Amino acid sequence: MRKKIIAANWKMNMTVSEAEAFLHTFLHEIGGENGVEIVIVPPFTALAKVSEILGRGQAAKLGAQNMHWEKSGAFTGEISAQMLRELYVRYVVIGHSERRTLFGETDDIVNRKVRASLEAALKPVVCIGETLEQRDAGEVESVLHRQIKVGLQGLSVRELSDTVIAYEPVWAIGTGRTATPEQAQAAHAFIRKTLSELWDSATADKVRIQYGGSVKPQNAAELMSEPDIDGALVGGASMDPRGFAEIVKAAMPAH
Ligand code: 13P
Repeated sequence: MRKKIIAANWKMNMTVSEAEAFLHTFLHEIGGENGVEIVIVPPFTALAKVSEILGRGQAAKLGAQNMHWEKSGAFTGEISAQMLRELYVRYVVIGHSERRTLFGETDDIVNRKVRASLEAALKPVVCIGETLEQRDAGEVESVLHRQIKVGLQGLSVRELSDTVIAYEPVWAIGTGRTATPEQAQAAHAFIRKTLSELWDSATADKVRIQYGGSVKPQNAAELMSEPDIDGALVGGASMDPRGFAEIVKAAMPAH
């Protein structure tokens, strides 16, 4: 059974004090152990404070939004895996479509970052997904196949099972236009099939595939009930602590 993983990607939002206020309410709302892995992904500036508040408790884990593939050096404005590790970061989002389109990240760059994160024992959350033009042109599967093949090239079976994939159709990000559960499930099943072809089916069965793109409390339960949807990477709706707690609750295993 794959444990669902729900992550809050705050993007370039939330100051340190806003992050503190969020956690105060959110941790109260979700209570104790709930069978869902929760990851808070603040901007770099709030990592230390969020890390301190989460402490050693298992209520939620810490993620970062990006990292550089080199260990250190003259890379002004960049952050290394080791810097994240020191703050007890466990996950790192790699290849988000905003990084790809606004900051020129290619599948090759994604691959370097994925490998560097795994070498540093950080689990990558690798974002893939097609644009609207690509969907309209019938290219969903070829785009996803390329992003997986190149982005995850060279990963061992062990490394692949530590990797989370986030299917985020670009046309659904921040638009309020969610993929239907059927559209998302079809893409997730294709991603799992591709993993089983490029690695093997036992490993593909272990990999968690999150859906991202306009996930809200109102649509989370329906998306999470699909067999290959193993969680959500939530942008806008993750900044409201009560709404995000509702999304987490929608992913809890049925009793
Ligand atoms: P929204 O939830 O705001 O659509 O963003 C999705 C996303 O990009 C998460 O990484």
